[in-house]
Amino acid sequence: MTTQEEQTRSDLCFPPGFSFGAATSAYQIEGAVAEDGRGVSIWDTFTKTPGRVLNGHHGDVAMDHYHRFAEDVAIMADLGLTAYRFSVSWPRIQPTGSGAINQKGLDFYRRLTDELLGHGIDPWLTLYHWDLPQELEDQGGWPNRDTAYRFADYAAAVHEALQDRVHTWSTVNEPWCAAFLGYASGEHAPGRREPENAIRGAHHLNLAHGLAVQAMNARRVGGCVNLYAVTPETDSERDLDAARRIDGLQNRFFLDALLTGRYPEDVLADLRVEPDDFIQPGDMKTIGAPIDLLLVNYYSRFTVSGAPGGKASAAAAPTDSASPWVGSEHVSFVNGGRPVTAMGWEIDEDGLVEVLTRVMRDYPPIAMVVSENGAAFDDVLADGRIHDRERRAYVEAHLGACKEAIEAGVPLEGYFAWSLMDNFEWAWGYGKRFGLVHVDFDTQERLLKDSALWYAEIIRQNRPHE
Ligand code: NOJ
Repeated sequence: MTTQEEQTRSDLCFPPGFSFGAATSAYQIEGAVAEDGRGVSIWDTFTKTPGRVLNGHHGDVAMDHYHRFAEDVAIMADLGLTAYRFSVSWPRIQPTGSGAINQKGLDFYRRLTDELLGHGIDPWLTLYHWDLPQELEDQGGWPNRDTAYRFADYAAAVHEALQDRVHTWSTVNEPWCAAFLGYASGEHAPGRREPENAIRGAHHLNLAHGLAVQAMNARRVGGCVNLYAVTPETDSERDLDAARRIDGLQNRFFLDALLTGRYPEDVLADLRVEPDDFIQPGDMKTIGAPIDLLLVNYYSRFTVSGAPGGKASAAAAPTDSASPWVGSEHVSFVNGGRPVTAMGWEIDEDGLVEVLTRVMRDYPPIAMVVSENGAAFDDVLADGRIHDRERRAYVEAHLGACKEAIEAGVPLEGYFAWSLMDNFEWAWGYGKRFGLVHVDFDTQERLLKDSALWYAEIIRQNRPHE
């Protein structure tokens, strides 16, 4: 190890109690889609619709985590993770999205959380990571207000069953994606291109969050947003307005709602929403009810321009899709000149400091965690090893950003790498690998990449001395 590396490592010291985790989600890793009474989700349907997912990939087997969870928890323990963020599959718990609870579905999460606790790993449970029961979609999906109430019932049932094992709960993962990729651009399930319904869906996802917080009365509960740093390409009025719009829809629409119980007026105007269209009296109070922490997923920075003729989406979908940027169709995403990951996302750890300090500055005090951060690269297996220097550098830089944010006063309590292991990357199928752990998609063999070994070492160095 060079002096430079030693230096960097000793720099990555975090306050006692800081959580070092990794994250996954149910549909992306579990497989076993027809086992133990699981119902059909919108992702089962979407992946089976020709042309929707690259190469027709689907999550039927995925990483077979449903059967291999004990092996996967053992890997987490080897890495020294102190926390693991996973999601519960709604259709395993309520196959049709409402009514009777499928005990066998709950049993899987009992086994998983017991295994985690047995290894001293804190389970962080996310209730919704995009796998809506198909039957609820058939009744209108997220644009249908009733879905939010169904979600609260489901949340209460899961909470009742697992509250003795799980101490940190989060509601909806990245509502922006669920609403605008699912219902505006159509690049995610259910694949609808109905901009007005996407806005409605966004509101109902926020409402679902608030109703679930009420219904659970959990010890520690948070909401999860995907934040981006947004920069105008120039100081021209047009570019400044483009940045305002993108920041508005991506960041402020959700932050303001969850943390202040209001939608930003300028965003409602961009979206041409009349306040009484679908926002009912009392909704904003429910949405803005106090939470204990904010889960921030961070990947990249957007540089935007108001000049016409640009590409409408920052991360072009592999399949044909419309723009998710309702109200900003004239905005284009431009190359900010930074290195990119295999997703084409620009790498900018300063953006993470920016978004965290911004939440601290502009909103009422709230504890935060980086609940997802990571990168896809084209990994090469050579002599039984994966020397993923770029991923390691990405994680290192972003952990450094976390440290900088803490030094600036941000109450940041943890970091979760996305992802524990390679998995099903939505519209990209198995074409993009985000894992610290490599998975051979044919044999299901797991192999720690260099980035995983490095992360384990950082965690080890932060362990309190016995
Ligand atoms: C955010 C999502 O929560 C996760 O499911 C996805 O795989 C990563 N971003 C990478 O795109």
